[in-house]
Amino acid sequence: MRIGTYRAQMTNSLSRRGFLARAGLATAAQAGALGLTGCTGSDTAGAGQPNPGAPAVSTAPRLDPNDWASVRDQFALDPRLAHFAAFVLASHPAPVRQAIDEYRARLDHDTAAATADERELEDAARGAAAEYLEVAGEEIALTDSTTMGLGLIYHGIALRPGDHILTSTHDFYATHEALRLAAAKREATVQRIPLYTDPAAASAAEIVSRIRAGIRPNTRLLALTWVHSSTGVKLPVRQIADAVAEVNAGRDGSDRLLFSLDAVHGLGADATGPVALGCDVFVSGTHKWLFGPRGTGIAWAHRRAWDSLAAVIPTFSGPSFGAWFAGTTAPFQFGLDGTPGGFHSFEHRWALTDAFQFHLEIGKQRVADRTSELATRLKDGLAGLPTVRLVTPRDPELSAGVVCLEVAGRQPSEVVSELRTKHQIVASVTPYQTAYVRLGPSIVTSPEQVDAAISALGSIK
Ligand SMILES: Cc1ncc(COP(=O)(O)O)c(C=O)c1O
Repeated sequence: MRIGTYRAQMTNSLSRRGFLARAGLATAAQAGALGLTGCTGSDTAGAGQPNPGAPAVSTAPRLDPNDWASVRDQFALDPRLAHFAAFVLASHPAPVRQAIDEYRARLDHDTAAATADERELEDAARGAAAEYLEVAGEEIALTDSTTMGLGLIYHGIALRPGDHILTSTHDFYATHEALRLAAAKREATVQRIPLYTDPAAASAAEIVSRIRAGIRPNTRLLALTWVHSSTGVKLPVRQIADAVAEVNAGRDGSDRLLFSLDAVHGLGADATGPVALGCDVFVSGTHKWLFGPRGTGIAWAHRRAWDSLAAVIPTFSGPSFGAWFAGTTAPFQFGLDGTPGGFHSFEHRWALTDAFQFHLEIGKQRVADRTSELATRLKDGLAGLPTVRLVTPRDPELSAGVVCLEVAGRQPSEVVSELRTKHQIVASVTPYQTAYVRLGPSIVTSPEQVDAAISALGSIK
């Protein structure tokens, strides 16, 4: 297939148009000629057309979405290894690889032509994310990672001197540091509280009650992580959101407590969307459990939170450029204004559409159920091993795909190294002060590989 043909077909396909329509987003033409298209000089003759003479790209193995072996075949992962750390940084499935290859070839061949439909392709990615998350496209900002999203959100929140920010001791470096930096700028304070003592015995009631007890009259931001990469605990987000709603029922709009979530280890492992979760802000990389393009991410904000948020990096959106031309400022729209401007690794950003479509084709609930099923199989097997202490709760309501454990008398790094060298199993060590061995069963691992991991861990003395 010629470069550009497939992409042009996709751009013109009903599904891509459907994403735009469902998301209520304007196409580049409808939005007017301002913005990035102006920046890239897209008036160039032939822009947006397939690039003649560009090289062909490989075709993907056919996907049977009902066959997990076929799903695994979409990945180019080393077949000699069992990949339990694939969620840390995604390997791209075939449709994503193919999309990236094609966009890259178009960009390398004729950058001006390839960026002519930049806004439409970006809107398609936003629309695909919106369809997957069951929200409106205008509510989705595109970022490069969870860390970038957290930094943008926490620096963009209208904090006042003396405001209190509540987070937990279990959150990742990215949350803690983004909060520290933002609080220092605004003379706010950050408090970290433990939400459980023993992760394996954590309970929803205990977690919610500790959070309730931690919220003060001046707490403006509750910044938590959906699934802790430190322990594998999945927070009862809906119940926490209900507690936040009770607090907000007695507050004025400007004092509203915002509930923000680092969702990266939930997205692609748990099918619940942000509206059902009940948070105000949902930030995630799309290059972990979603197996989207490396260097991509999204942030979503409920409209009720928009008044409390502001842009940090200038966007390249049409309305913003138009206002600049007119010497005014455009009204804040989270999806556009939360998307940092500047040129990007566009081949990756545009291929995000294909990553969401891949999950939707398999079925996002089926992917979540499969992940949970494999994680439960792993935890059940590990629970029977005398030398292994399971750190992650066995209850699927309080866990997702992340499974943390300890092997008696052995350092986590030694265990991970032995798993790879002696058993061809790729695991990881949690990047926290208290480190554990971490395995993430997912759509790239099989039940047999889970059983092999149990038996390998049982043999490590
Ligand atoms: C909970 C959590 N949040 C954020 C990150 C960083 O994600 P990203 O690479 O998308 O910034 C990680 C680990 O990489 C993590 O475990």
